[in-house]
Amino acid sequence: MDNERFAGKTALVTGGSSGMGLATARRLLDEGADVVITGRDAGRLERAAKELDAGDRVLAVAGDAASPADLDALMATIADRHGRLDVLFANAGVGTFKRAADITEADFDHTVGVNLKGVFFTVQKAVPLLPRGGAVVINASWTTNRGLPLASVYSATKAAAHNLARTFAAELADRGVRVNSVSPGYIDTPMYPEAALPAEEAAALRARVAAGRFGRPEEVAAAVAFLASADASYVNAQDLVIDGGLVAAAA
Ligand SMILES: NC(=O)c1ccc[n+]([C@@H]2O[C@H](COP(=O)([O-])OP(=O)(O)OC[C@H]3O[C@@H](n4cnc5c(N)ncnc54)[C@H](OP(=O)(O)O)[C@@H]3O)[C@@H](O)[C@H]2O)c1
Repeated sequence: MDNERFAGKTALVTGGSSGMGLATARRLLDEGADVVITGRDAGRLERAAKELDAGDRVLAVAGDAASPADLDALMATIADRHGRLDVLFANAGVGTFKRAADITEADFDHTVGVNLKGVFFTVQKAVPLLPRGGAVVINASWTTNRGLPLASVYSATKAAAHNLARTFAAELADRGVRVNSVSPGYIDTPMYPEAALPAEEAAALRARVAAGRFGRPEEVAAAVAFLASADASYVNAQDLVIDGGLVAAAA
């Protein structure tokens, strides 16, 4: 890629072994960054690092984003290897899609643990490594904008992630670090694979989107790269909805 917006920079992508995280890792590598990716499943993470095919410009660190101890170890590894972190994409997330009546305490704790506690401590623990000009992007969701059946706890955690981006932007302003969030719509990833949906349901979902289709992980990666780059130097505390018009344009 001609664009080298991240040459000489280091980026961390949590949940970088799949979907939007993996696509963003690839995009940042293509634009010159050294990239650290994480995930819980060490085998899948290693396969992703191999697929990225960028030699020692990719570092895979297995760990649980919901575990402050794992995050401490991750940040120590990054500090040793790179001494700083220019870009953080706090992307790792999980979804439990059930009616509220069927949500168990374990479902609740798992979703809140990864999507809220995990995002909070990922950013908190990265702060000491972020230099002036550093950028954080948090992966929220279009669901923050809607009441959506089956998504009670998930949507609440994404609303929290959305708000955390604003709070961190305010708290990190004096350090010269920008914090934004992205809110993807229906994106075809292993979390929400279009091909696994019944054909009629997939068609109904596509019909709600002005673009008439699901989004690709690479389309989210392009937006994350923009927000993380100097091209977005005056964009702060914002949420960028990447949904083909699902939320705002009636199809
Ligand atoms: N797909 C959509 O339509 C959609 C729409 C809006 C927002 N989102 C959000 O986008 C983000 C990425 O989703 P995706 O669709 O790209 O999903 P995905 O393909 O399932 O990827 C999720 C990634 O997060 C990692 N992960 C999950 N729990 C983790 C944990 N506790 N610690 C560390 N890593 C963890 C997974 O690896 P391991 O399982 O090995 O840990 C994987 O690398 C999520 O925050 C999701 O909520 C998705």
